[in-house]
Formats: sequence, structure tokens, C-alpha cells
Amino acid sequence: MAQPCPDEPRPADGTPAAGLPLFSPGRPARQGLTCLYRCGNACSHEAPNTSPNEYFGQVLSRALSRRGALRAGAVLTLAAGAAGLPADTAEAATGTSAAGAAPAAPPARPPRGLEYETVAPNTADAVTVPAGYAQNVVIRWGDPVVPGAPAFDFENQTPEAQAGQFGYNNDFCGLVQLPGPGRRYLMFSNHEYTIEPLMFRGYDPANPTDEQIRIGMAAHGLSVVTVERDRRTGRMTVVLDERHNRRYTASSEFVFDGPAAGSALLRTSADPIGRTVLGTLNNCSGGVTPWGTFLSGEENVNQYFAGADPADPRHKRYGLRPGPSERKWERLEPRFDLAKEPNEVNRFGWVVEVDPQDPQAPPVKHTALGRFKHEGATIALTRDGRAVAYMGDDERFDYVYKFVSDARMMRGESRRAREHNRTLLSAGTLYVAKFSGDSPAAEIDGTGTLPADGAFDGSGEWIRLAQGSTSFVEGMSAEEVYVYTRQAADRVGATKMDRPEDVEPHPRTGSVYLALTNNSDRGKAGKAAPDEPNPRAGNKHGHVIELIERDRDPAATTFGWSILLVCGDPNDPGSYFGGYDKSQVSPISSPDNLAFDPYGNLWIATDSTQALSINDGLYGVSLEGPTRGRTTLFASVPIGAECCGPVVTGDFALISVQHPGDLDGASPQAPASRWPDGPGSQPRPSVVTIWRIGRNDRPGRIGQ
Ligand code: FEO
Ligand code: CA
Ligand code: CA
Repeated sequence: MAQPCPDEPRPADGTPAAGLPLFSPGRPARQGLTCLYRCGNACSHEAPNTSPNEYFGQVLSRALSRRGALRAGAVLTLAAGAAGLPADTAEAATGTSAAGAAPAAPPARPPRGLEYETVAPNTADAVTVPAGYAQNVVIRWGDPVVPGAPAFDFENQTPEAQAGQFGYNNDFCGLVQLPGPGRRYLMFSNHEYTIEPLMFRGYDPANPTDEQIRIGMAAHGLSVVTVERDRRTGRMTVVLDERHNRRYTASSEFVFDGPAAGSALLRTSADPIGRTVLGTLNNCSGGVTPWGTFLSGEENVNQYFAGADPADPRHKRYGLRPGPSERKWERLEPRFDLAKEPNEVNRFGWVVEVDPQDPQAPPVKHTALGRFKHEGATIALTRDGRAVAYMGDDERFDYVYKFVSDARMMRGESRRAREHNRTLLSAGTLYVAKFSGDSPAAEIDGTGTLPADGAFDGSGEWIRLAQGSTSFVEGMSAEEVYVYTRQAADRVGATKMDRPEDVEPHPRTGSVYLALTNNSDRGKAGKAAPDEPNPRAGNKHGHVIELIERDRDPAATTFGWSILLVCGDPNDPGSYFGGYDKSQVSPISSPDNLAFDPYGNLWIATDSTQALSINDGLYGVSLEGPTRGRTTLFASVPIGAECCGPVVTGDFALISVQHPGDLDGASPQAPASRWPDGPGSQPRPSVVTIWRIGRNDRPGRIGQ
């Protein structure tokens, strides 16, 4: 999702204000419709975390006095001492790398998987890929997902058609390969939110029609789609598979599981036992589990509810506001009116799990993972097979969480194994992160200038919030911890972060990468000041933290961390690219979605690179060796779009193109983008596959 909101409008014709390179400060960031329809203009309201949560230094002092022996940095030493680490990775963990020092010369070749010709930053109304690469649109808003669904007709859309078609604004994308010759996959996309003024001609926000509301509800949710890749051409297309393909919308039934299922806090007049809910909303990022299911995070769900009580701290902390909602769903379904159904909102803001291989298995909302503005959830396994879910709460000054399952994953594809593994996220321990820096606070001046020890780095701990029916938060029951997780984290002194988006464990090294997308309020009067884990005031371009769990154990309760990237214009002295030569990197802003390729390279999709006056895109990032910290733009998305949900395999990449043409003043009468279908068409959010053209025009290996 996107914030900050625009500093100034960009014209709907997409014309940049100046020629490239366009890295002047103060250019527009995300545009107005996306701000309004995705997160309810969150950034134009006060950040909901007004808790007097302590400055981390105070918290650390108390923790140190409580524990006695633990020195700041001790965790780091342990982490770096873990066996088998690449030397440079271990150095990063200790913060003893030559941070800030550029290598003598860039290597002749980038690492395996990143050997493509860097795409020049641009403002084109196109998906731009490296020379020698090809692309095709796999699926776009309105394309049939379910066999029998009608072809898309922008001028005559219906709720029934939309419920069988690909939804709007696909964000996360996950793939699992189907058994067989290896060409077919189940693709999971989520549909974060709708932009009604771009979906309907003459849309009246004050008086949406019932049909428009119903179409909007059906355009939310999730899609499971069978896709097939032609190994001869590289193209990927949809297969209308009756068995697997399905849509979940704002009206589909989900079941609750975990310790808060059945809680009085989840009961409503339609569901007096608090165990089922209609719909999933504002799904942002997600994850593919080692047991073959898909996870998705319900994020800015506050905006769908009307009638909040401004005096109710539970409403305020979750960003709920009085008055009507933007989409007016409460006019059709009173459950979206807090005054009429006060607990309905408690049934949104969870991590959902879908088993793509078992259409009969009900989709689940996992209460054990807490309720907040979930960006997504990604899984690492402990050595003994327990599942650890890493999660970010995407709000200014909110927190990073993890969950450690009680049970171990069962290997194999048997029905028994699948059923068991679908319960892994039902019982375990929920933690929130507290970060501590190792440099004097006075050295964190808010500009991004590295402190004297050469790194933004330090240690941290995972603070227990609840396990099963046991609460570790004074004054809150376990059920309250799960349903009002933000308040629970406030009480234990979690560290206020700059909008935690994807939190992604490296599949080989186990290091965990955190995308902190931006926070224009950092350091403002009355707000949290810059600190070592969030070192820039008015953080417009975001940063990426590398976190190493103690002993490389995902279940550890302490960790070390360092900042890998301080994003922005490389010419800005406040940006930092892992110590790599900044003249050799692509500019990058607002890191959002993270993924790894089979070679261990990090890939970052951005949201709001418009803050640099360039289109968003997908960047490859080297993590090891002399090119560590080098960012190279691999693909850029059309004007007004956000790049989401990257999947990078050895053979192809997938990107999700969200809200193309979302510029101020755009409408169906005056579209700001004609992507993907060209002249005379309306812009349509889509999934795109990209591959390298190899010998004899056959597909080659990606990134080589
Ligand atoms: Fe929907 Fe946090 O981005
Ligand atoms: Ca996101
Ligand atoms: Ca430091």
C-alpha cells in the first residue's frame, strides 16, 4: 500500500515535471485516489499510535537492569558466531562491516541471477524490462477465473460477473507447482481494494448505487487461478480449471480458528458463536507456506466501517473514524456500521490461510497471529520443524511481530499431513519486536548520516504477548491481546517503526529482511524522534533492515540487526546501499514487497518511487560478496501503478501491477493510462510474467 500521500499533484497525462533523472526532492508520492481508497487517507490523519511508548533507550535500560548480564551487542556477537555464515553476512550481523566504505571497483560481473541490463528509471506507460527479455500479461482485472464466468465488459459490469472474474488491485502473488510435467501452477492473488472512480463512469462517491457497491465487494478478496507456462515460448496463460480455480470475495464465508475463535469479542447478531465471518478485506501482501498453502494479510480494514466512536480508544488505535465510510457499504449491510454491529470490525484485520489444493477446506482467519493492519505473513521453519510467521503492521509508528507454533510441520503430501499443517498457525506464541541501537543517540541526527561506528545496527528482543489462553500483558486477557494486539504491544514497549511492510526470511541464510516503507511523520513535533532502527527524520524513502536471530534460530527471543539500505536518491548523502558504491546503483524508494530468487538474491518491489519522480518497479539486490547492497532495476511498471507481489524463479518472474493510471484527475473519461490493452482501453490491474529470450528465441534462465 502506499503512503505518503501526495505532496503535490501530478497531471493526469503523466507528464513528469522534468527530464530524467528526476530525483529532485519534494516530487509527488502516491496519488489521491489510492490514498483514499486503499487506506482511507491514513497519512492525512494522525497516526493511530499515540501511546506513550518509551524511547527504546529507556526500555533497554530497564531490560538490562532486569537481566543483568546482557550487554547491547552481545546478541550480535552470538549471531555472527553462528556456524556456516558467509563472512560478509556475519560481518553485517555484527555491524563490523566496512559500512560506508565503497569497494575499490565494482566487480566485472554481478552475482548469478542479477546479470541483466539494468532498466533505466522512467515514467513510461508500460512495463519496461531489460533488453533481451520478453513479457506477457497473465491475467487482468475482469478476466474469467471460474469456468463459465463472462468476458470482461467495462461498460456493463455486474456483481455476478465480477464474482467469477479476477478482482481489482491484485497485490500479493504466490505460486505452487502442480504435480505433473511441471508446466502448471496454482497462482494465488489477493485483491486489496477497489478504486470505484476508475471502475465506473460517472461514479458519485456520495451516492454509489447498490450495484456498484456489490461489484466493489465482489472485486475484493482472493483468487486461486491455474496457470500454465509454455516452455517453448515462455508465455504464461490462465487455465480455466474447474477443480482448483476459485474466487473469495467480501461475501465468502471464512472460519476463525485459534485462541480467540468463539470469543465474545468476535460475536455478532449474524454469528452469535463468533466462529464464522463473511468476507476478507484489504488483503495486502502474503506468503507461501512450506506446507503449500497461501497466507494473506488483511490490512487497512478500518476504512470499510462507519460510525466509530471518537472517544473509544479501541476504535482510535485501529484508525476507525466517525461518520460514513468511503464506499458506503453500511447502507447495504448494516454490519459495516459500528453503531449497529460493534464487533464486526473485530472480525477483520487477521491473517487468512487458503489451501489451494483442497477447495473443500474452508479458508481460515488465524486469531493466534493477532489483529492489526497485517501487511502479510511469511514462514521460516525451526530446526525441529515449528513454523515461525514474521509479520509487519503497516502503519506509521507501528510494530513488527512474529508467531512461533507449538506443533511441528508434518512432511509429505498425505491428506493427514495437509490437515495437520493447516493447524500449525492455530496454536503458539505471539511476540512483538523491540529494537535497540548500539550507537549514542546523539549520533543519530535524522539525516541518515551513519554514526561513528559506521552502521545503523544493534540488538533486539522478541517480547511475548500471549500463548494460547495465557496473556503476558498486564491488564489484558489473552483474548484481548489477540483482538486488540496493538494495545497489547503498546503496553510492553515495542519499538515504533517506519511502516513495517514485508518481513521475509532468507531461505538459505535465515537472515530476516524487513521493508520499512516510509514515515513522513518521523521526528515531527510530538512524534517519535529518529532512532537507530529508524534513523531519518521525515523518512520519505524508507529503509531495509537485516535481522539475524540468535543462533540463527527463528524461534529465538533475541536478535541482532543492521540497516542494509537507506533508500532514496543515491546522490543524497542520507541514502546508503550496504556500503556499495552509490554511483553504481539504481535509485529506489518506498520498499514494500520482498522475495528471494533461487540464488539467494533479494528482490524488492516498490510503492511510491514517485517520491523520486520515477515509476515504481522491481529491483534485484545483491546480498553477498563485493556487490552487497547494489540495487539494479529489473522492471518498471506503468504510470500511476505500484509494483507488488514479486515471484522470481530460475525461469521467470511475476509482478503484480496495481492501480495503473491512478493519477490525480484520472477517470474513465480521461484515463491516465491505457495499460495493458492500449489505445481506447481502460487501465486494468494485472499479473505480468517476464522471461529472458534465450538461444533460438527459447526461454533462458532469468537474471543470467
Ligand atoms: Fe497495502 Fe502495506 O501495503
Ligand atoms: Ca504492501
Ligand atoms: Ca551503530
